[in-house]
This record gives sequence, structure tokens and C-alpha cells, in this order.
Amino acid sequence: MLTAYDYQMAKILDAVGIDIILVGDSLGMVVLGHKDTKSVAIEEMIHHTGAVARGAKNTPIVGDMPIGSYNTSQDALKNARRFLRAGAQGVKIEGARSKVIKTLLDNNIPVMGHVGLLPQTAERYHLIGKKREEAERIFKEAVELDQLGVFAVVLECIPEDLAKSITEKLGAPTIGIGAGKYCDGQVLVINDMLGFDDSFSPKYLKRYAHLGREIKKAVAKFKREVLNETYPNEEYTYH
Ligand code: KIV
Repeated sequence: MLTAYDYQMAKILDAVGIDIILVGDSLGMVVLGHKDTKSVAIEEMIHHTGAVARGAKNTPIVGDMPIGSYNTSQDALKNARRFLRAGAQGVKIEGARSKVIKTLLDNNIPVMGHVGLLPQTAERYHLIGKKREEAERIFKEAVELDQLGVFAVVLECIPEDLAKSITEKLGAPTIGIGAGKYCDGQVLVINDMLGFDDSFSPKYLKRYAHLGREIKKAVAKFKREVLNETYPNEEYTYH
């Protein structure tokens, strides 16, 4: 699974055959420039889900319910339906919000769970589940979500052995981010894995490209060529 927030990136992920596109509320940080995901609005998520759906015709799309959009079961149902109308096939909810999740499932809305580090409520970005009580709570929450009937569970920033025991226990597939190799699947934020911005570098993050550097080089070259009048030359000129 990878995240996407716009039409062109979704089209690329769709062409490569990524299994699931997540329109993550990481949108707030990597696209909208907020310091965390806490201020992302439902309208922003719906807007970007529509763009992704126009680009990805063959890939299941999951919309990440932003903070404040699922405070009550009624809110959750209303907002999850907005994601589906925008082109998502399911929604993701952070934390063991059993009542809300059950309401969505009872209304035939596929739900992806998310346990471990929960960026919408966490005070900082860090490994969680090292302490025994924490690990037991995360394990219990994952089992609870599985029993409710979520179709997958994201495990974020937890030790590998905890992710392994959760993965072995659950019927639903686990999708890890900073949770080691034993998860059934992996997810990364597309802007992070493509290396747009080197300032965020948690241990788990592998940069598969350095597009930030490439873009800077291209933009600087454009500027140089316009200033020294080598662009546009004959090749790029209509007559
Ligand atoms: O918002 C997001 O991109 C996410 C993933 C990191 C799982 O929740």
C-alpha cells in the first residue's frame, strides 16, 4: 500500500499495480504543510480522494478519516459515505473505536483499522509498544478490530516481535509502517519514500528516490536557461 493525494500520482501507482492506495491524512503534513495531522479537515480529505479516484481506475482506494470526523457513530457514517461518494472503496480509522467501526461495518462500509502509534492523538512521533502494558494493549486492540471484521489493520511504529505476534494472531492482514518484516503488507507515505524532503527521517523510512534533489536541479536549470536565453531555443518554438 502507498499513499497518494492527487490525480497524477494515483495514475502512476495504478499503472504499477500497487494493491491499495491510501489517501492518508498525512496529506496535512506533506501536501498542506501543517506540522501534524491534527488539523486536516474532512473537506480536504474528500477533495483529494476525488482527485485520486480520477487517476486510479483499477486500484482500491481507502480514505483516511481525519480527526474529528468520527466522534460519534452518526458523524462517522455520514463522513464515511462522503469518502465512498468521492470514489473510495473503504475508510481507515485510527484506534480501537469499536462502536464507530461496528456502525460502519453494519452499514456495509469496509474499514481498515490502525493501531500502535496514532498520529492524530500522539504527542510526538515515536516507537510505541516497548513497555509490556503498552504492547498488551496494542495486541488487544488489534484482536478486537479483527473480531469486529475490519479488512486489514495498519501497525504503526511498533517493535517487530509485537507486529509478528499480532500478524500471527489476526485473520485480517496486517500492513506495517515501522513495524518490521513480519507484517502481511507494508505502507509508506509516497512523498517520504520518494525523497521529496530529507528533513523527516525515522529509522524505518527507506528513500527509494531523491526527487526533492532532482526537482531542485531541474528548477535551477530552467531558471539558468531562461536567464541566459538558451530556453526556448528553435526546438521549442512555433513558427
Ligand atoms: O496518514 C497516513 O498516511 C497513514 C499511513 C502512514 C498509514 O495513516
